[in-house]
Amino acid sequence: QMDVSKDIVWHQHSVDREMRERRLGQQGCVIWFTGLSGCGKSTIANALDVMLSEAGRATTLLDGDNVRHGLCAPPAVLEPEHGAEFAERFGLGFGAVDREENIRRIGSVAALMASAGLITLTAFVSPYRRDRDRVRKIVSQAGRPSDFVEVFVDTPLEVCEARDPKGLYKKARAGQIKQFTGISDPYESPESPEIRLDGGAGESVDEMAGQVKAWLVEHGVF
Ligand code: PPS
Repeated sequence: QMDVSKDIVWHQHSVDREMRERRLGQQGCVIWFTGLSGCGKSTIANALDVMLSEAGRATTLLDGDNVRHGLCAPPAVLEPEHGAEFAERFGLGFGAVDREENIRRIGSVAALMASAGLITLTAFVSPYRRDRDRVRKIVSQAGRPSDFVEVFVDTPLEVCEARDPKGLYKKARAGQIKQFTGISDPYESPESPEIRLDGGAGESVDEMAGQVKAWLVEHGVF
């Protein structure tokens, strides 16, 4: 195989990140929500998105279920249009390597969005510490070290399972879904997230989104 990497050269563009950020009047960053399925990360990220948008900030929200319909679709979703080989090679499931690639793609997209000056909210299970740390590195290297804000939505498994909004825990317990995070697949809790939300303490979604907003204000992001 030829080494194409030697033929790819980084292109320096005329409109740089600083100019984009100045125009938007904000600094781009990535607010990375992580936690078990049903922990509330998408809902809290969505509420924060509303708060930031209402305050006139330029934001975007990348969400597990949505991204897995497109950029990181599983083979069965890709197949009709692209053929079996394509689906087999690029479709993503929930094995460890697939999740690694899922987070790599999303991390890369999130870093690009932050470079465009957007406050980029992401909500993925992202169960592996190493994968999240890699995104932290990519985002930090593309901008400032403080550009990656990890938000651990720490909701006990029992609470997530009792909620079971999509009936997935029930299926996982019945063995109908393999490698389900928290049941038959690991979740590695963040060791030092910028923000930890206690999702099992009975606080409202807006209260928890407010805690993240308060942190962003305190640290000059917002
Ligand atoms: S990951 O681990 O970050 O790659 O997962 P993510 O892209 O966030 O997708 C998680 C959503 O997919 C559904 N789902 C599963 N989650 C975990 N494990 C398994 N095996 C699985 N199969 C399907 C589930 O609805 C997750 O959505 P959320 O919003 O987290 O509940």
